[in-house]
Amino acid sequence: MGDTLSIKDKRTGRDYEVPIQAETIKAVDLRKIRVKPDDFGLMTYDPGFMNTASCRSSITFIDGDKGILLHRGYPIDQLAEHYSHLEVAYLIVCGELPDERQHRQWRGAIMAETEIPDATNRVIQSFPESDQSMGMLVSAIAALSTCYADAGKVDDPETRRRQMIRLIAKIPTLAAYIYRHQSGRPIVHPSDRSYAGNFLNMMFAGTKPNYEVHPDLEQALDVLFVLHADHEQNCSTSVMRCIGSSRPDPYLAAAGAVGALAGPLHGGANEAVLEMLEAIGSTKRIPEYIERVKKGDFRLMGFGHRVYKNYDPRARIIKRMADQVFKVTGTNPLLDIALELEQIALQDDYFKSRKLYPNVDFYSGLIYQAMGFPASMFPVLFAIGRMAGWVAQWEELIKDPEQKIARPRQIYEGPATRDVPAKAKAEASERA
Ligand code: SDX
Repeated sequence: MGDTLSIKDKRTGRDYEVPIQAETIKAVDLRKIRVKPDDFGLMTYDPGFMNTASCRSSITFIDGDKGILLHRGYPIDQLAEHYSHLEVAYLIVCGELPDERQHRQWRGAIMAETEIPDATNRVIQSFPESDQSMGMLVSAIAALSTCYADAGKVDDPETRRRQMIRLIAKIPTLAAYIYRHQSGRPIVHPSDRSYAGNFLNMMFAGTKPNYEVHPDLEQALDVLFVLHADHEQNCSTSVMRCIGSSRPDPYLAAAGAVGALAGPLHGGANEAVLEMLEAIGSTKRIPEYIERVKKGDFRLMGFGHRVYKNYDPRARIIKRMADQVFKVTGTNPLLDIALELEQIALQDDYFKSRKLYPNVDFYSGLIYQAMGFPASMFPVLFAIGRMAGWVAQWEELIKDPEQKIARPRQIYEGPATRDVPAKAKAEASERA
């Protein structure tokens, strides 16, 4: 029998055998199925890529039914418990967990690159007063592209790795400088601390008397960065790959990925969850809100996932972490609404029948708010963690001999060929 799909085209009575590899068929193998010899041949039609593999990857594996998330084979809960974000970033980029020497070198290389060029800081300082943090981050990352002339040499491994390290190193600084600009405060330069500790210091130093980075919050934020590090071919990573496929420098691809992440259906959901919880206002109003969601008035933000049809393993870890953070910051009154909302939704058939569970964004915003971050910074925090995944997936694309420039086709439903109106033709000949 062999691993093939037998297809009978009833339009012509012809039979075809299409090879099956890794539980997929190659869409291009369908092109041989045609009625007339000069037909284009069959294509697949898959809006939103509900059932399309765009690449081969060894970085992250998700089993959506079982709620499993592995990075290079290691379960996310073990990584979150035992390794720092920079160690997990090394794993995602390099393929193995670093030994002590590798970790020291990797951390040293990244922390040596945390400062940003003055020109990029001037771009940040030029932004108008607004809380459009993700728009500022897109622009600031794209601005980095103007500072490194060799960044376009994407086929040179050393140059490529240098830009990847710069992107992981500099995104916390870009984020902090954006926040300081928005809050009308002078920037605080990077300092010799942990990755998360340096970021918290650049964000909040001087915002209250004798501010010091709290070790428990530093550790909690680092775990949150780990939990956001990569998630196979999500929307923003697919954009990173799509832009990367025409081979510009990685700063331009990363700027596009940040733009995709900003949407409320993706990384912007953590901010939308907070707005939703504030709009609900009290546990008493949850039933009425749920009814409106079921009527389709709006979506329950922080719930649902294209791949997870079970509890998002990251949401489970974040929910557990909330207590650790609230011990330091005091609990977030919105937590009770979130917990009650989750309980009610998980028992309601509308959500159960659609396999809608809390995702990574449902609880993260509550922790970020308790830590003192404004809601507009929540998707920025997501981008900081995800930068490691974006650059790793980008490099995998650049090195993949099977990959070509991303250029999908379409089902054309517009007008057939037609002539322009006589009047326009007459005017054109006058101009000639
Ligand atoms: C992230 O892809 C990733 O890996 C993303 C991410 C990552 O780490 O990169 O995990 C991060 O983006 C998490 C998702 C954050 N977004 C939200 O929380 C926004 C709310 N959720 C959704 O809008 C939705 O669930 C998506 C966008 C996450 C997934 O949407 P799909 O897979 O396209 O599903 P769909 O829109 O086709 O919905 C299927 C059904 C529909 O109902 P019916 O038409 O069948 O009646 O489920 C319903 C939807 O109306 N539905 C929801 C819902 N999500 C889906 N109904 C109410 N509330 C929701 N949240």
